[in-house]
Amino acid sequence: MTSAAVSGVSRSLRGATGSGVTWAAAIAPKDMVFYSFMKPWLGDGLLLSAGDKWGRHRRMLTPAFHFNILKPYVKIFNGTANVMHAKWKRLVSEGSNHLDMFEHISLMTLDSLQKCVFGFDSNCQEKPSEYIAAILELSALVAKRHQQILLHTDFLYYLTPDGQRFRRACRLVHNFTDAVIQERRRTLPDQGVDDFLEAKAKTKTLDFIDVLLLTKDEDGKRLSDEDIRAEADTFMFEGHDTTASGLSWVLYNLAKHPEYQERCRQEVQELLRDREPQEIEWDDMTQLPFLTMCIKESLRLHPSVTVISRCCSQDIVLPDGRVIPKGVTCLISIFGTHHNPSVWPDPEVYNPFRFDPENIKERSPLAFIPFSAGPRNCIGQTFAMTEMKVVLALTLLRFRVLPGEEEPRRKPELILRAEGGLWLRVEPLSAAPR
Ligand code: HEM
Repeated sequence: MTSAAVSGVSRSLRGATGSGVTWAAAIAPKDMVFYSFMKPWLGDGLLLSAGDKWGRHRRMLTPAFHFNILKPYVKIFNGTANVMHAKWKRLVSEGSNHLDMFEHISLMTLDSLQKCVFGFDSNCQEKPSEYIAAILELSALVAKRHQQILLHTDFLYYLTPDGQRFRRACRLVHNFTDAVIQERRRTLPDQGVDDFLEAKAKTKTLDFIDVLLLTKDEDGKRLSDEDIRAEADTFMFEGHDTTASGLSWVLYNLAKHPEYQERCRQEVQELLRDREPQEIEWDDMTQLPFLTMCIKESLRLHPSVTVISRCCSQDIVLPDGRVIPKGVTCLISIFGTHHNPSVWPDPEVYNPFRFDPENIKERSPLAFIPFSAGPRNCIGQTFAMTEMKVVLALTLLRFRVLPGEEEPRRKPELILRAEGGLWLRVEPLSAAPR
């Protein structure tokens, strides 16, 4: 890194696409200082890879997020939300209705991911799971290392107890993923790909790991075991904390705005009227417009990923003629873009009507970038939005959510957290869960 420029994010992003120039992945690759601590864990998965490898993998993985694959996951999201809600009801009946949303929801999103990625049920919301504990530990250790400048060099870091913990947790996570890959490989050649797909289609769920095993590039080449592991581990990491942050903050915002909370609840009740069991389905995703507006406004005010960075490998000319010189690292503040008062009047006010279809027409699509933008945007955004809608809808159907005792303080780490957790009160509503 030769120099760092904190450039007005919106300016650089808007400039890049506004003039029809693609914010090409090749010209502005990710700045690895930002992510390098995760390399031993996530390897060359999509989040961290670059160049041709990234392009090839992105093309190969895009079908994994096709709605045909995602559709059956809705059942999984309903199931993991049910487990969490049953736990909340039990805790409330034992006298604790004051809950740290991050703690509960992260476990739930990890539970969902482990089922969607590996087809594996670890029961992690009810009993400790070594694998899930290792992922939580890895995420916490990476965030902690960012704060300790002396430990940024690998040599020193791996001499410390934290560095050794990081190594151990990495090993455990890799062993789990490797074991699933080997087990799947054993079943694949016997059955042949077509038989396998047919059998899977009958059970209606194709795990991500199956898609990774089956996908081929333009030359008919498949991914290596190492590549598959990196991609699966990347989904587990990138998919859990981000979605948990999004859900925790939307519950916070709705706790602070009971009028919007009630309106969402009515929308869900209306949708599920006369339906038994009360389960959210794929086709419902477009039937919850107000709830969707509430999620989007929350992602604006509290974006899970607050900043991303890019390194300019060539001079980049902005539409007004100014140049970002080659070698400069740009920090792109998603949080700053979402709080820009010239685009978002009263930016600190939570107002879901900003996302009313009538109100979005005049706004640049780059004013709202919780999932980033351009070719390196979030590949999992539909997965994430679907999970958030299912879980939020069921939560509001079954619980009233109220603010905690203290106002949370935002704490940007790898994702946007709250200092000491995000504590809210939950009150079960009479009719649920069934
Ligand atoms: C609310 C939830 C989520 C948010 C806000 C979010 C946000 C983001 C952002 C901002 C990026 C760009 C990162 C960068 O440029 O450095 C990204 C990339 C990525 N996300 Fe997400 N994400 C979410 C959920 C998910 C889920 C559920 C998955 C997978 C199951 C996922 C997988 C990925 C991957 C693989 C990348 C790297 C894509 C690439 O570089 O080609 N994300 N995400």
